[in-house]
Amino acid sequence: MKKVEINRFGGYEVVELVERSFPTPGDNDVVVKVSYAGVNPLDWKVRCGMMKMVTGSKFPMSLGSEASGVVSEVGSQVQNLKSGDRVVLTTGLKGGAYSEFVKVPETNCCKVSLGVSLKDAAGSYICGLTALQCLTEKGNVGEGSQVLLIGASGGVGSFAVQIANLLGAEVTAVCSTANVDYVKSLGAQKVIDYTEENPAELKERFDLVFDAVNAHSWKTMKPLLKSKGTYLNTMPDPVMFLRQVFTSVFSSKKCKTYMLKPNREQMSWLLDKMDSGEIRLTISNTYPLEQVADAISENEKGRTRGKIILEIDPSSN
Ligand SMILES: NC(=O)c1ccc[n+]([C@@H]2O[C@H](COP(=O)([O-])OP(=O)(O)OC[C@H]3O[C@@H](n4cnc5c(N)ncnc54)[C@H](OP(=O)(O)O)[C@@H]3O)[C@@H](O)[C@H]2O)c1
Repeated sequence: MKKVEINRFGGYEVVELVERSFPTPGDNDVVVKVSYAGVNPLDWKVRCGMMKMVTGSKFPMSLGSEASGVVSEVGSQVQNLKSGDRVVLTTGLKGGAYSEFVKVPETNCCKVSLGVSLKDAAGSYICGLTALQCLTEKGNVGEGSQVLLIGASGGVGSFAVQIANLLGAEVTAVCSTANVDYVKSLGAQKVIDYTEENPAELKERFDLVFDAVNAHSWKTMKPLLKSKGTYLNTMPDPVMFLRQVFTSVFSSKKCKTYMLKPNREQMSWLLDKMDSGEIRLTISNTYPLEQVADAISENEKGRTRGKIILEIDPSSN
């Protein structure tokens, strides 16, 4: 079967499509025949070695962290899934979703109802769950919360605008001129075009500043927080962890960072909202597996609206 790997860190040129043997499931694993995979910034960060503190430097290294498809085989202890189920999954930092077949623990999979296409499902796990967990678990967003959302047109941001709306928050979204109408269409009450107005100079104060694309620092955003407000980003590094611990004890304004945790129940909630049409996925571009290096490079430019999807075997959708 075909699979995407790297054998050294680098640019576009290190991405290889190779032949590998089919995976066999462990007791608690399922093997999924992949239909589509979602392209994420994690892919180019792993490819160029930015993540080696967590991935290590052992090669070959598999790429791709989320996919959708149909279960082809299950381990002896698997309880909730069977062969033929349509699922969405994350491989986490281990990678391997850019593959014709992938093996993951059952707990990293969630069933997809017939109302959601496998193409949409493929782009929903990482960004959808990140948006949901950031807003609810880290940001405590609820009815009437005032949220400043930076990076509202990207993968995480597009989900976050819609989820914050469903939670009853008032969303001020930050994006560039080209995405103002798009972000309004997702339900943002107010949109700041960062090419015209510096978000750091806003006069409003927020319960949560969610910097989904890590464009502004804690220092520049802290003045925009209400007295018990939270600044949250998606780039967990040692400095952010230290600030998180320090502000949890010594400051009424909190600085937080985030790391995705696979969660079947939360993923199921998200897919229900996609099924009912309350949350939609925007796909800006689709690439065949053979053009995986181009798909990753397009995402690396940092201008993706919604998601880029890799098509691996569209015969099931
Ligand atoms: N820690 C975790 O577990 C976790 C999980 C998921 C994602 N992440 C991280 O979260 C980040 C965002 O991921 P993503 O998938 O949303 O990325 P993405 O889709 O590639 O983000 C692209 C978007 O960012 C916008 N953007 C770029 N610069 C901006 C700025 N200065 N202000 C406002 N918007 C800006 C672009 O819009 P314009 O063209 O309008 O500028 C574009 O729509 C990545 O660094 C990713 O690695 C972390």
